[in-house]
Amino acid sequence: MIKNITKGKVDTSRNIDSHNHVTGRSIYVDDLPELQGTLYLAVFGSPVAHGHLRSVDLSAAEKLPGVFRIFTAKDIPGANQIGGIIPDEPLLADKEVHFHEMPIALVAAESEAIAMEAAKLITAEIDPLPVIIDPREAFAKGHISGSPRTFQLGDSNKAFAECAHIFEGKADSGGQEHLYIETQGAYAIPMENGSLRIASSTQGPTAVQRTIAGVLGIPMHKIEVDVTRLGGGFGGKEDQASAWGAMVALVAHLTNKPAKFVLHRMDDMRMTGKRNPYSSDYKIGLDKDYKIIAYEATFYQNSGAAADLSPAILERTLFHLNNSYYIPNVLATAYSCRTNLPPNTAFRGFGGPQGMFVIESAIHQAANTLGIDPIVIQEANLLKDGDVFPYGQIAKEAEAISCWEESKERFDLKKIREEVANFNANNEALKKGLALMPICFGISFTNTMMNNARALVHVYSDGSIGVSTGAVEMGQGVNTKMLQVAAHYFAVAPERIKIESTNTTRVANTSPTAASSTADLNGKALAHACTQILDRLKEVAASSLDTSADKITLKNETVYVDDIASDLQWEQLILSAFQQRVNLSAKGHYSTPTIHFDKTTEKGHPFAYHVYGTAIFVSTVDCIRGTYTFDAVKIVHDFGASMNRMIDLGQTEGGLVQGIGWMTMEEVIYDETGRLRSDALSTYKIPDIYAVPKEIDVHFLKTDGSDMALFKSKAVGEPPLLYGVGAYFSVINAVRAFNPNWMPEFYDAPITPEKVLMGLYAI
Ligand code: MTE
Ligand code: HPA
Ligand code: MOS
Repeated sequence: MIKNITKGKVDTSRNIDSHNHVTGRSIYVDDLPELQGTLYLAVFGSPVAHGHLRSVDLSAAEKLPGVFRIFTAKDIPGANQIGGIIPDEPLLADKEVHFHEMPIALVAAESEAIAMEAAKLITAEIDPLPVIIDPREAFAKGHISGSPRTFQLGDSNKAFAECAHIFEGKADSGGQEHLYIETQGAYAIPMENGSLRIASSTQGPTAVQRTIAGVLGIPMHKIEVDVTRLGGGFGGKEDQASAWGAMVALVAHLTNKPAKFVLHRMDDMRMTGKRNPYSSDYKIGLDKDYKIIAYEATFYQNSGAAADLSPAILERTLFHLNNSYYIPNVLATAYSCRTNLPPNTAFRGFGGPQGMFVIESAIHQAANTLGIDPIVIQEANLLKDGDVFPYGQIAKEAEAISCWEESKERFDLKKIREEVANFNANNEALKKGLALMPICFGISFTNTMMNNARALVHVYSDGSIGVSTGAVEMGQGVNTKMLQVAAHYFAVAPERIKIESTNTTRVANTSPTAASSTADLNGKALAHACTQILDRLKEVAASSLDTSADKITLKNETVYVDDIASDLQWEQLILSAFQQRVNLSAKGHYSTPTIHFDKTTEKGHPFAYHVYGTAIFVSTVDCIRGTYTFDAVKIVHDFGASMNRMIDLGQTEGGLVQGIGWMTMEEVIYDETGRLRSDALSTYKIPDIYAVPKEIDVHFLKTDGSDMALFKSKAVGEPPLLYGVGAYFSVINAVRAFNPNWMPEFYDAPITPEKVLMGLYAI
């Protein structure tokens, strides 16, 4: 018997990591024990946002005692290329610099302090070129990545001719700093025959492996990337962990010494990309019953200086252009516009929130111009089963209306409305604003090819179990969910199971942990692996109990025959199987069935299913200061049949607050030279405990869930962020309660206290 299996020690009803997190025991890249001879890295980044690189002077830096070696583009043995989708991004600048802080030279030194000091001694001769930071300007000058994408449904042109009301406008949303608690970093250790082991803080271990192999010009099998967990990623480490991985790998490969690079906060803020800002034009047409008949939009995405994931993000903006509404006639085009900012990248929602902000702006403008509440238009247009999305997928098990109706009833919207109206009638200096935000988010990577995963399970001869998958734990609780899957199939105590690190040598060719699909994809692959072993174990049990395998079940560590407990326990069963030379390991594979998408027609069935929900926001604006607070956010969310309510609730609260931050207070500011001005927590404000809504009430909608989801429990990672858009409109509505003549000149998020103040006193 294993002595330390004390059942109940591991409680999977909450995140299995939480105890280690709060007691400081969890391990991140910077916590790994360091090997003797480790070199520490620092980057010399471009002092300008755009220019021809004529020369780099390393002489002063090289003379600094403790500097081991300095590397530039010409030292790269393979391809100087880290672009994930389009090969347009060098690891180290060669002839041109495209953004401020773009890495030019890499210092390896005995200590981090020396490396950083040396980097400051490097200079470069750069002939400046014009700097573009605005996506519309980039578009006007023809700086586009990839091809523009156009989604079309029906005939919007014809439909506008029949509309009773038409409105046009502009809506811009800003960037967002990921601010994962653990900054970017990696640690490379040289092994024999030119192999490397890399610990990386990445959502995409395979992306890091592939990028390093390309940069070094060696096969992928020589690179082992290992990820224990991340202190948050939020999309910022889906693609952008690769650069730092490639840097430590380059140094370890060329020096045969371990190399480590963990970014300092301000460097991380300055050097890495953020959520893509968007500037968009819209035109919306309604009939006399406020049905949206036609919608046109043009999205100008600010990609920054390289494509990175922006082409895929652009696509998801189009997928979510209609939010949770049915619109029969749609014409929307999206451009990825190349500017001289650090390449922007994935961020929770992956372009979806940016698209949904535009339709919500259009509805808000329409309603306010018509003198009705936006709620009337929102309610009149919610998607139902059988409605077609602009990309051809037919809505099935749509919960848009059920979430909306349930939120109105459960939270008594009528009463909330009266309270807000009463409050506003009786208060001068404080005004309240109410807004509803329905959401709809498609689950699956929009790139069909990526929707697959693998798992590797070992049952050891003592009955303990090791589980490897392609899932990366980054706070979202996927390890707990994987543990639940294995515990369910083997019917053993969770403490018997260890969720191993995510490792490219154990599980290969993984998709990144992203698109909220990690638990679905890896969990189903894991289920496949577990059932294979289970089937073998049932044969062993059947022969030892003299019955047939189909009569065997496992419950609570005990073998049951025809639902009656036998004397055969888990550990004995495993020992027998082992002695009978039964294979106690299995690998599982899963690829999402039914999904497909044709980019030439822009039609298909890209999503396994959709997630829905409705949030009610009440905010209070201080009409003297321009500050605001959120009194309450009340949500009815479609979790399907939640497999872990505590984790799912945590994801909902966290996503919501992150969305509120993006829409209200987080302001990424670059000056006209392309330099980031909001590069510290003193100048970049994220929600703190005081900014969190005073009340967050989340109701789990009762549904049967989706068979496409793991245990019918729907993906939860990104969708709640979308609720944040409601925060913006609730604040706008509160400002209008004070100054009814004011309407935003155009919709411009975030709605910071400065903008609120301008609105309050605009004439
Ligand atoms: N939650 C925490 N705590 N930390 C994170 O980095 N990332 C979000 C979301 N929730 C994130 C998080 C993003 S962007 C995604 S895509 C999903 O988690 C990814 O994990 P999942 O696929 O397991 O939901
Ligand atoms: N979501 C998140 N990450 C991605 C996607 C997606 O749809 N496609 C490619 N990377
Ligand atoms: Mo999440 S933006 O798909 O990493």
